Amino acid sequence: MAQLNKSMEKLVSLTKRRGFIYSGSEIYGGLASTYDYGPLGVELKNNIKNVWWKLFVQDREDIVGIDGGIILSPKVWEASGHINEFKDPLVECKKCHHRFRPDKLKGNQCPDCGGELTKEKLFSGMFETTIGPVKEEGILTYLRPETAQAIFINFNNVLSSTNVKIPFGIAQIGKAFRNEITTGNFIFRTIEFEQMEIEYFISPKENWEKVFNSFLKDMHKYAEMVGISNASLYDHDIPEKERAHYSKKTIDIEYEWPFGRDELWGLAYRTNYDLTKHSEYSEQNMDYFDDETRDKYIPHVIEPSCGVDRTVLAVLASAYDEEKLEDGEERIVLRLKPEIAPYKVAVFPLLRNKPDIVKKAREVYLQVKSDFSTFWDERGNIGKRYRYQDEIGTPFCLTVDFDTLDDDTVTVRDRDTMKQIRVKISELKDWFASRL
Ligand code: GAP
Repeated sequence: MAQLNKSMEKLVSLTKRRGFIYSGSEIYGGLASTYDYGPLGVELKNNIKNVWWKLFVQDREDIVGIDGGIILSPKVWEASGHINEFKDPLVECKKCHHRFRPDKLKGNQCPDCGGELTKEKLFSGMFETTIGPVKEEGILTYLRPETAQAIFINFNNVLSSTNVKIPFGIAQIGKAFRNEITTGNFIFRTIEFEQMEIEYFISPKENWEKVFNSFLKDMHKYAEMVGISNASLYDHDIPEKERAHYSKKTIDIEYEWPFGRDELWGLAYRTNYDLTKHSEYSEQNMDYFDDETRDKYIPHVIEPSCGVDRTVLAVLASAYDEEKLEDGEERIVLRLKPEIAPYKVAVFPLLRNKPDIVKKAREVYLQVKSDFSTFWDERGNIGKRYRYQDEIGTPFCLTVDFDTLDDDTVTVRDRDTMKQIRVKISELKDWFASRL
């Protein structure tokens, strides 16, 4: 955490204070580059994944989903090239034995203790594990470093069990694991993370650049949908020597992080590399036969790949705001898009010691909760409750007061404008539905 800059520190502190994200294994002193999502974090993360799934899978006719295994046959990783190619060069400090990526170093001394560094060595990013009760006799395999391979190895299964026809895509959201040596910057780079990936299969005769550009556009659309402004994104065309072994073209969509511009998501043209390799190594035919054109070929692939955790971080960094109020006070507000906010509404009784008000407020809470994710709060005073909801990004707060008992209206307060209006209880559902 030591290297975090001021804005990152504030964000990290807010996410911990309000139950979005905690450091991993904290009670045992922590485990570097691991994090846990708390009650609000899991809601935010699920909403971010749901928007992606709806946009790229449910709203389209040409993309279907799968949920493949984390542990696959070790042969998968031989075929995919990961065992040989998924390596990063690193240097090690001869004194403190900390390891660093040479491309991220400024100078040739250890940034931690000033010690002398070794020459570059290749370091595998694959997480090893053993299957079987006796470690020495078990099968050595790996936790997947990308979700993509579970899609490629199920290509024939999906083709024969559904009605998909090229061009079509297979999507997946799931965990991936990498033995990362560059750490820091919170959930930006962790050893366990989630990916939202699509392998989109096309004919070799298809204009792949057109498909590639259409996904690039959709990824930018998705960014806006979750509250990441396109003005903070930059498409970085990765030069050949820096691309992954399978890629003929890669664009990294970079984000202006509080710690500088760096990769948010990636889009790659993987050619027919993966299916060809799996066909070769598994000795299974992975040709696609087109009934209409009578063409037979191994499909080519366009791959949009979005890290869930990086999306969470970019969403939080984009939404975080500190505002000076007219009365001189400051408030922290997470200006999350309503669609992805963990709670859409918070319901308060004006006073917790007035049973009539509390009873009425509970009724309203249960009514609103059946349609929208709703938070109940009767702690402290109204001002404090507003500040709390601002910090967790709840778009609307609803207060039940003395007038409610007479006229069945409540005060609804808008997170961003802080304006308050009276709304009839019977109209709340429509009122929120049109705004959320
Ligand atoms: N299947 C292609 C693939 O895995 P990648 O560029 O290595 O490509 C895709 O990873 C995305 O996964 C990245 O753009 C990033 O959003 C996310 N990602 C990769 N490594 C990560 C890590 N160590 N921690 C968090 N997210 C990571």
